[in-house]
Amino acid sequence: MCGIIGYAGHRPAVPVIIEGLKRMEYRGYDSAGVAFAQQNELQVIRAEGKLGELENRLNGHDVFHATTAIGHTRWATHGLPVERNAHPHCDSSGCLALVHNGIIENYQSLREMLKSKGRTFLSDTDSEVLVQLIAELRTPGTSLRQAFSQALSRVEGTYAVALIDLDEPNRIWAARKSSPLLLGVGVGENFVASDIPAFLGYTRDVVFLEDNELVELDPFAWQVFNASTLEPLEKKVNHITWDFQSAQKGGYRHFMLKEIFEQPTVITNCLAGRLDLKNRTVSLPELDALEIPEQIQIVACGTSYHAGLWGQHLLESWAQIPVRVEIASEFRYRNPIFKSEDMILAISQSGETADTLASMRLAKEHGVKVLGLCNVVGSSVAREADTTILTQAGPEISVASTKAMCSQLILLTLLALYWGRRKQTLPANVESSIITGLLDLPQILEAELPLLRSRAQELAPAYSTARSFFYLGRGMSFPLALEGALKLKEISYIHAEGYAAGEMKHGPIALIEPEFPTFALALNDALLPKTVSNLVEVQARNGKVIALCHSGFDLEVDHTWEIPNAQGPLSTFLALPALQLFAYEMAVYLGKDVDQPRNLAKSVTVE
Ligand code: F6R
Repeated sequence: MCGIIGYAGHRPAVPVIIEGLKRMEYRGYDSAGVAFAQQNELQVIRAEGKLGELENRLNGHDVFHATTAIGHTRWATHGLPVERNAHPHCDSSGCLALVHNGIIENYQSLREMLKSKGRTFLSDTDSEVLVQLIAELRTPGTSLRQAFSQALSRVEGTYAVALIDLDEPNRIWAARKSSPLLLGVGVGENFVASDIPAFLGYTRDVVFLEDNELVELDPFAWQVFNASTLEPLEKKVNHITWDFQSAQKGGYRHFMLKEIFEQPTVITNCLAGRLDLKNRTVSLPELDALEIPEQIQIVACGTSYHAGLWGQHLLESWAQIPVRVEIASEFRYRNPIFKSEDMILAISQSGETADTLASMRLAKEHGVKVLGLCNVVGSSVAREADTTILTQAGPEISVASTKAMCSQLILLTLLALYWGRRKQTLPANVESSIITGLLDLPQILEAELPLLRSRAQELAPAYSTARSFFYLGRGMSFPLALEGALKLKEISYIHAEGYAAGEMKHGPIALIEPEFPTFALALNDALLPKTVSNLVEVQARNGKVIALCHSGFDLEVDHTWEIPNAQGPLSTFLALPALQLFAYEMAVYLGKDVDQPRNLAKSVTVE
């Protein structure tokens, strides 16, 4: 997830772009850059690090003459967060400059083709391929609009792009597919940006661009086209009444809610480039050269640890690799036994969690290979692991982690399929049918999220007086029970314990009373009858029960919460947002500070 912006108007463009980038910095902040035409040359100024670094770099440049410019704030997906990978990128002749948000999946084959035609690449990014391709296709007699359209038709993946051309320095071309892009319509000035806040200080008139639309704009006019046919399209101008804060949250009340609702997109992004659709197999080329580990030790903290516990089931059953999962703060002080054929899998959203890093370093000292599963490019985990797989969930701002866990679970599913195929331990057709299920998930989840939220809103008042909660589950639902309890306690401050349902009778059931409700993960799996027996035991002690279940669940409980069926373990991707939304609505109902709960920090860089 990155932020892009373009401005064509009557004001000095660079300060407008910098202001817009500041308002989108939450979309990515590992490097930034601007491009504009000046004295018959494209000026491209970029800097690694936060926007302040770019501002320092701009000191001493004449930034007050150009009235058209594009800008970018980056959340790296391909290539390290260093200056050469920062946007904008130019074609080899330096006539075109482009900013891009998204992932170009077929960039490697395009890059090879363009190199064979003599084009030189200066970055490691997928984005540079697009600007070079446009330049390649812009032959005499082909307008930039046509070349842009042709290039987009050859690109697989997702994009929001904005482009400037030295030959027409007051004009911007932009297009989108599965990445957000809006047109801001002003008086004598027009904007394109990933997000409304980027131009909200100048105009509230907005055109929402759809997939496969291309827009051309200058200070006085704009026109949207069908990106494939270049047929002009009529578009409606909407007047926005939101304030800056709510615009930044995309109209959601909290970042946590926004991030929960981003999960369909997160799944799409996470799968992008990792599936071979023709052969219906998982493709993780970064692992091809690695030996399949004899044994995996997962180390992680908090929500990432719960993801690890969940992944253990699939890695063991599909890839038949023995897996141990341990909280990093325990692992590092336990004198664990290392074997060189083992692998450490470090899972971390931030990539900066001190205990996870210490565990990785310990393993490396003992000569064990480390695979990092991490969301932040350039973070310590991403840099120090021998191999890193990026979860591509985009920046997570809410302290309570939601979408990052979703992306970790998707990657763990892909890893289990990938190693299972290599080891030939996968039951027949599992890979292709799970891939079909994964591809269907975003659409199913998109439709389901508003319903899950309504149910959470209905249930929250009924349970808001509870002082403690049990979350119970078995098998793959046990880690979800742990996660549901963690979410509830961290944002609503209600005590909650996640427990393996079968363990209740060994002690915890003594706590059951009407004011100590149980949230049961009662999904349709082989262990459901056993979970049901445990719930009956809870009910026999006058415990109230909410059951998150599938249709056909026939135990009478205080509240059922039915979610759609998905294939096997993929039900998790519908159950997880239900748990997140229940905690969210409880916290909102109780008036808590959802995005910044007391005593917590987003990134735990100390022991
Ligand atoms: C809970 C939460 C934390 C983190 C934990 C590990 O909502 O966010 O429990 O999961 O601090 O953080 P990362 O994944 O960044 O290593």
